[in-house]
Amino acid sequence: MGKYPDREKAEQILREAEERNPGPWGNHSRTAAHCAEKIAEHAGMNADKAYVLGLLHDIGRRFGKRHLGHVSDGYSYMMSLGYDEVAQICLTHSFNQKKMEGYVGKFDTSEEETELIRTKLAEAQYDDYDRLIQLCDAISGAEGVMNIIDRMSDVKRRYGDYDPGKWNANLALKEHFEQRMGMDLYEAVEKDRFRPGLKVYRCQESDWLLSEEAFELYAPCMYQPTFEKYAGKMMEYLSDSAVRIYVCERGGSRAGILVLDCSREEAVILGIAVSEACRGCGVGQYLIRGATQSEKLKTVTAQTDDDAIGFYRKCGFRDEETSEEYPNGTVVRYICTLSLETGN
Ligand SMILES: [Fe+2]
Repeated sequence: MGKYPDREKAEQILREAEERNPGPWGNHSRTAAHCAEKIAEHAGMNADKAYVLGLLHDIGRRFGKRHLGHVSDGYSYMMSLGYDEVAQICLTHSFNQKKMEGYVGKFDTSEEETELIRTKLAEAQYDDYDRLIQLCDAISGAEGVMNIIDRMSDVKRRYGDYDPGKWNANLALKEHFEQRMGMDLYEAVEKDRFRPGLKVYRCQESDWLLSEEAFELYAPCMYQPTFEKYAGKMMEYLSDSAVRIYVCERGGSRAGILVLDCSREEAVILGIAVSEACRGCGVGQYLIRGATQSEKLKTVTAQTDDDAIGFYRKCGFRDEETSEEYPNGTVVRYICTLSLETGN
């Protein structure tokens, strides 16, 4: 009893399972892991354990598209690896009322599997980790954290029904953990900031920033890029304490760079680029949001052209059009401004 893998092993188990059965459930699981970890931190619970349990609660999906079947599949799989505590979560996460009735989805289990779920559920003693993952399941979407009512309504729409007892039990879980944490649930899980698979951090690794790899990533936002030009600029940035460089990782590899001049109250975006493979995945938007929040900025400005104005508008910037005269014609430029509300 009491067994679960460490974070690294758990992430590996999820990746392998996703390869066997790709789908939005992978990022749903990552969102659940993030929420579980954050709530655990604020509630004085074991955050690593919460993260791993959240990450693996739906691991039964490894074996294909099943409804109730994913519960018994997950339970048996985790038991076979000796991860008893995860096995229990695979079982209990779908039953916040500790009974099979009220399960939202199809009963697609064999008699044997149904019996297994029924027996183990009756034996299970729920603790706050079972309750935590039930709650996290109810707020975790594949794109990020959802409002609990929106998520339950969404499930209701997809399945045609949602057991009212289960609905109310989820709301009670939200209240239980809010009380335990002494704070708002969505604030604790950084609802509007978190995106599964993406990570933003300030990068000060000069070795990497002066590498070919970094140059290739950043080149699309430079005018007539060459490595020499890039390296020169980057050295300037690195020696200027008002310039902050942020990197966004997606699925563990670097997918975007943002260079910000924070010398004045209105910070200025000096450059932002996202790798070709990751465009349209929200990396740029996530980078700006992560950097502005970590720098506690109130206003960010940028200048751009017709090619990138759509991106800035999507990120919530307002813009003003100006035109500049060049020897070979007029160029339309946009001055973009993003105002950030405090506490957001
Ligand atoms: Fe789930």
